[in-house]
Amino acid sequence: MIKINENYLKLEASYLFSNIAKKVAAFQETNPEKDIIRLGIGDVTRALPDACTHAFHTAIDEMSSDAGFRGYGPEQGYDFLRQAIAKNDFQARGADISADEIFVSDGAKCDSGNIQELFTTDAKIAIPDPVYPVYLDTNVMAGRTGNFEDGRYEGIIYLDATKENNYIPTLPDETPDLIYLCFPNNPTGATISKEGLKTWVDYAREHKALILFDAAYEAFIRDESLPKSIYEVEGAKEVAIEFRSFSKNAGFTGTRCAYTVVPRECAAFDAQGGKQLLHPLWNRRHCTKFNGVSYPVQRAAEAVYSEAGKAQTKNLVAGYLKNADHIASEMKNLGFSFEGGDNSPYIWIEANRDSWEFFDTLLTDAGVVCTPGAGFGKCGEGYIRLSAFNSYENVVEAMKRIKKALA
Ligand code: MLT
Repeated sequence: MIKINENYLKLEASYLFSNIAKKVAAFQETNPEKDIIRLGIGDVTRALPDACTHAFHTAIDEMSSDAGFRGYGPEQGYDFLRQAIAKNDFQARGADISADEIFVSDGAKCDSGNIQELFTTDAKIAIPDPVYPVYLDTNVMAGRTGNFEDGRYEGIIYLDATKENNYIPTLPDETPDLIYLCFPNNPTGATISKEGLKTWVDYAREHKALILFDAAYEAFIRDESLPKSIYEVEGAKEVAIEFRSFSKNAGFTGTRCAYTVVPRECAAFDAQGGKQLLHPLWNRRHCTKFNGVSYPVQRAAEAVYSEAGKAQTKNLVAGYLKNADHIASEMKNLGFSFEGGDNSPYIWIEANRDSWEFFDTLLTDAGVVCTPGAGFGKCGEGYIRLSAFNSYENVVEAMKRIKKALA
């Protein structure tokens, strides 16, 4: 008799964003005349930079002749892209990361879920609350939690990120083996200083723990004093893996390209307490289970680092930050407290009421989709998240409608 992985039965019936999409679709069916503005899921709306589409076309043309054709590529990514990433995203900021420490993939979501295959099932996990649901759900699937009781999974060390701690979790009382951190944060938009991040790096080193650092939103950092990578902090290479993406800075949500950094010296421990380097293990996993990102997509991603690509991605990000500024100032005018929006595309708003109820109000009365904070965890109850990923015109219209609906 084939038996299922019963850990799946502990999960909520559907993934947060699928749940929201279903609700919105049902609303649209009964209100076909309503024009909906989506400020919910963090999906970009503006076209790929010209530099990327040009490189994309050229690479496809190359593939159409036998001489230029490429079959299976290196699973870890082509050297041209890994070199460009190492040079521009790390070495240019004083972080000593080399090309062979970069693993190109089709998404930070997949990587942040898949990476936990390298660790024992009984690893103790620390996860922020509120949190991007993927970190938690993938650990539930793997059997690292007990049941869902009173809004939380048993066996997880929750790191509360609340107004009281400026949405930056403090070190836990119980010692974890694996720590998830994300800055600029999804969903709160909070950022962490280099000193703040160093506290976590030092803690991981002291406790032989490992940090999984999600930096998917680093492009939105305007404050030059803030770290964009955890490797800007001394000692992080031994205790941190970092996830990055081309989705939010260069519009690759549909095109798919991301990468994970596993430094050569980064280690975990075997049952005897012996140090085991993670780079060869992740390399083994990647080569066995992943076929690599397609050649044209990697050429398009490489173009992000050309002079034109840098200017165009900067412009894309600036557009979304302008939207974030508008949302923030309008919410302020309406008397709401919020976090984020300054170095992040997300604005985390204190709704002062049930977050799903507020979601329904905005959908029904304003035709605007937000993300209810409760979907990100217990500490998200009473909050909603507005995303700046839309056109400026739509954001202006959405804020007008929200103002009217709440009047
Ligand atoms: C979100 O809305 O939180 C994002 O879409 C997350 C993601 O990129 O998967």
